[in-house]
Amino acid sequence: MKVILFGATGMVGQGVLRECLIDSAVESVLSLGRSPTGQHHAKLREIVHGNFTDFSTIESELTGYDACFFCLGVSSVGMDEARYRHLTYDITMAAATTLAKLNPGMVFTYVTGRSTDSTEQGPVRWARVKGKTENDLLKLPFRAAYMFRPAGIQPLHGVRSKTAWVNAIYVVAAPLLSYLARTAPQFMTTSERLGRAMIKVARDGFPKPVLESEDINAI
Ligand SMILES: NC(=O)c1ccc[n+]([C@@H]2O[C@H](COP(=O)([O-])OP(=O)(O)OC[C@H]3O[C@@H](n4cnc5c(N)ncnc54)[C@H](OP(=O)(O)O)[C@@H]3O)[C@@H](O)[C@H]2O)c1
Repeated sequence: MKVILFGATGMVGQGVLRECLIDSAVESVLSLGRSPTGQHHAKLREIVHGNFTDFSTIESELTGYDACFFCLGVSSVGMDEARYRHLTYDITMAAATTLAKLNPGMVFTYVTGRSTDSTEQGPVRWARVKGKTENDLLKLPFRAAYMFRPAGIQPLHGVRSKTAWVNAIYVVAAPLLSYLARTAPQFMTTSERLGRAMIKVARDGFPKPVLESEDINAI
């Protein structure tokens, strides 16, 4: 598979990139980000792009891909609704609409989160915005689209959050997180399992379009 990866500098994207680089099912990875990953690998190419609501200037570079792993996303904490909606819905849909037009045979996988609100009507703001994003992604003319809804994610193999205190918590809580990843698959997965599951689903498909944490862990 030839893969486009969004969010490769983030915690989720780092894990997905690692699995892509070591999996023989992935022939090449194009990382599309606003900042470089700092990684060098024979399978990895990067485009640093300034405007994530307009990809028209780089369309010629975005054709011929089999899968997109969309790991770009932000926390809603401390952010007003308009900003969160812009960073979650507008950016994701701008990228996905462009990719669907250029790669109708593509499988698109979106990292969303546990408790996403598919009704778009519930009381939790982030969950409504993610729900609308999922629903509209599923309407695009991809070969297939899959919504990955992890709950907690234990970072493994050097994957790090960009926030120092978050890393500190992951280090201190590592034994508990490992325990939960083994015993409570509905609440915890690992960066490795998530990346592997995204690759496998892009390659082989999955019986349903929305994958909860326990589905991700079972793959
Ligand atoms: N981490 C978890 O435990 C967890 C659990 C469940 C679901 N999720 C979901 O997974 C997704 C990724 O989370 P994460 O923890 O990996 O977040 P993160 O570490 O903060 O990484 C966010 C990624 O998105 C990119 N990004 C953010 N704003 C952008 C913008 N305006 N334009 C272009 N790129 C932008 C960042 O690029 P820069 O490096 O340039 O900032 C980075 O690559 C989110 O949707 C989150 O809700 C995460």
